[in-house]
Amino acid sequence: MLTTAPRGTVDILPEQAAKFQHVENTFRAICHRANFKEIRTPMFEHSELFNRAVGEQTDIVQKEMYTFLDRSERSLTLRPEGTAPVARAFIEHGIYAQAQPTKYYYIAQIFRYEAPQHGRYRQHQQCGVEFFGTRHPYADVEVISLAYNFYRQLGLRQFDLLVNTIGCPECRVEHRQALSQFLESRIAKLCPDCQSRYERNPMRILDCKNETCQEQLEGAPTPVEYACEACAEHYAGVKAGLEQLGIPYKEAPRLVRGLDYYSNTAFEFHSSHIGAQGAIGAGGRYDGLVASCGGPDTPGVGFGIGTERLILALEAEGVELPSPSSVDVFIATLGQAAEQKALSLIAELREAGFVAEMDLMGRSLKAQMKHAGRQGAARVVVIGDDELARGVAVVRDMKVSQQREVPLAELIATLQQSGQ
Ligand code: HAM
Repeated sequence: MLTTAPRGTVDILPEQAAKFQHVENTFRAICHRANFKEIRTPMFEHSELFNRAVGEQTDIVQKEMYTFLDRSERSLTLRPEGTAPVARAFIEHGIYAQAQPTKYYYIAQIFRYEAPQHGRYRQHQQCGVEFFGTRHPYADVEVISLAYNFYRQLGLRQFDLLVNTIGCPECRVEHRQALSQFLESRIAKLCPDCQSRYERNPMRILDCKNETCQEQLEGAPTPVEYACEACAEHYAGVKAGLEQLGIPYKEAPRLVRGLDYYSNTAFEFHSSHIGAQGAIGAGGRYDGLVASCGGPDTPGVGFGIGTERLILALEAEGVELPSPSSVDVFIATLGQAAEQKALSLIAELREAGFVAEMDLMGRSLKAQMKHAGRQGAARVVVIGDDELARGVAVVRDMKVSQQREVPLAELIATLQQSGQ
């Protein structure tokens, strides 16, 4: 127990952390150019927020939240998704009273008590955006195209964008009736989860992954068929915008999302490479969310992209991702005075922008050279007491195995000239 991380969690060691940094930096840059500003909300919230926003009847609230009482008996929940906390902050700070729209992005840890498997964890990270204040279909297009460009810029090629509309609360009433009627004679053949969904939220049955359920759904009424005029027009606007930008998409009439706050546009990005957990990002419109959390009627649209799954998909496609940075300059020393000099030189080199390292393990000179090689050092600066006395150092280029003497006073300038 003491030496294993909790089930469903992973340590991100430096090799992997370098990939995360690359994905995060790319995401930040792309959000910056689209004028999304970063928001950071607490890792836990009042449980009531998620019960209300995500929905009492959803899988997340029913079985996946890490909820606990703090020492003052408050019920708190580790963030199981990123949208509700951002909506809460949007209300709490009166942002709705400022000129709209408001465009936020976040890189946040998410906690869900799910059955762990490849690509599904109990703590994962999402790169997400939330766009408040307008119903304009181009806001949906902007959000979807941002995700699409993010994947493309990272080098991902084999993925699909699925889009749908699940309508507004009004047109959904009619759809629900039609769907319930359709399913009535088929209930016995549905999986136990869908049988309980039939009472709670029959629309969720539409995207059950169970094959028998999918067979039973052949010919089932879909929300898009029941879209009212305004919803149909909105959906047409989203599709037209995607076409204008040349973003390929597939319509998925049975795509419905597992969180209750959605309305109208729903979308998911799927990679064909990572098996059952192929959803590498998903989102949609949530025009009722801010009002349901106690704010003024404010539309919104956004997405969350699972960083771990995205990295799995990139690796599966063979996209080369950065490794941790290697050492530019290693200072190998012989003798105490040389070691003392190295202490200052290391500080100067780092100040000048080099990744610089020296030995603190008491290795022999030979072992230091070997260690520098293992660290991927491009150059090794060798200083012995003799060199020190003469005010020089030996600079060895590890790639071409050549070395020359350089005056210590010119060391940094020389290293700079020959490139970092
Ligand atoms: P979601 O579909 O629940 O949506 O999650 C978004 C993405 O997070 C998924 O497509 C997947 O890539 C990743 N993900 C979800 N659960 C796990 C897990 N257990 N392990 C690894 N990755 C996972 C939301 O959370 C919404 N808040 C998205 C959104 C933002 N909608 C509007 N704005």
